[in-house]
Amino acid sequence: MKERFIVTTEDGSNTIYIPELNENYNSIHGSIQESSLIYLEYGLHYCNKEEINILEIGFGTGLNVFNTLLNTDKKIMYHSIELYPLTPEEYSKLNIPNFFDDNKSNLFIDIHECEWDKINLITDNFSLYKIHEDLLKVNLAYKYDVVYFDAFAPDIQPSLWTTEVFSKIYKSMNIGGILTTYCVKGDVKRALKECGFKIEKLKGPKGKREILRAVKESE
Ligand SMILES: C[S@@+](CC[C@H](N)C(=O)[O-])C[C@H]1O[C@@H](n2cnc3c(N)ncnc32)[C@H](O)[C@@H]1O
Repeated sequence: MKERFIVTTEDGSNTIYIPELNENYNSIHGSIQESSLIYLEYGLHYCNKEEINILEIGFGTGLNVFNTLLNTDKKIMYHSIELYPLTPEEYSKLNIPNFFDDNKSNLFIDIHECEWDKINLITDNFSLYKIHEDLLKVNLAYKYDVVYFDAFAPDIQPSLWTTEVFSKIYKSMNIGGILTTYCVKGDVKRALKECGFKIEKLKGPKGKREILRAVKESE
């Protein structure tokens, strides 16, 4: 396993840094504002269904799961794929819960400690299924309304940003399904369009001019 360190982003929240890849799990300009804008505002809150199935690529620090759990009253089934889960030693040191409701910080540990590859009821309205698998091999047999595509950048992991991968995700989405990602590279836009997504660029969080939203409009 590659060496990983906890680092602090500009809003004071922690993320993980992998020196060998020179890559952070979240934006160094503030992980919480990034998660809240790209995945919650542009993805989750753009979906008008009352029961929402979410797929996340890259569970990582659990920030997107925790942020979603604490910021919606809708009924959520949340699937998150992760090939290299953090260790208890790592996730127990993350200060992410300090930036949310004090009374809910135990839920951050719950989402990390709950079993992998099994559906866990975190609250009455929120189920979490953490899939310990390679995105390239995973079989997506569910239908999703919202996809948080939060893989490492395409120059670090080009194999995860291909037409094949996006096509697998496209097939697993309901019509009207929404995928958001922080990456607006030309190759990524082309691959998404090739699969059938309609894409739009939206204003990014601090440190990122634009981000992408892709919508599945037909089968
Ligand atoms: C940008 S980070 C995700 C950040 C995460 N969403 C968060 O809120 O902290 C990318 C994640 O993808 C995971 N990953 C890398 N390769 C993968 C693969 N082939 N399949 C599934 N997950 C992978 C990494 O271990 C890392 O946790």
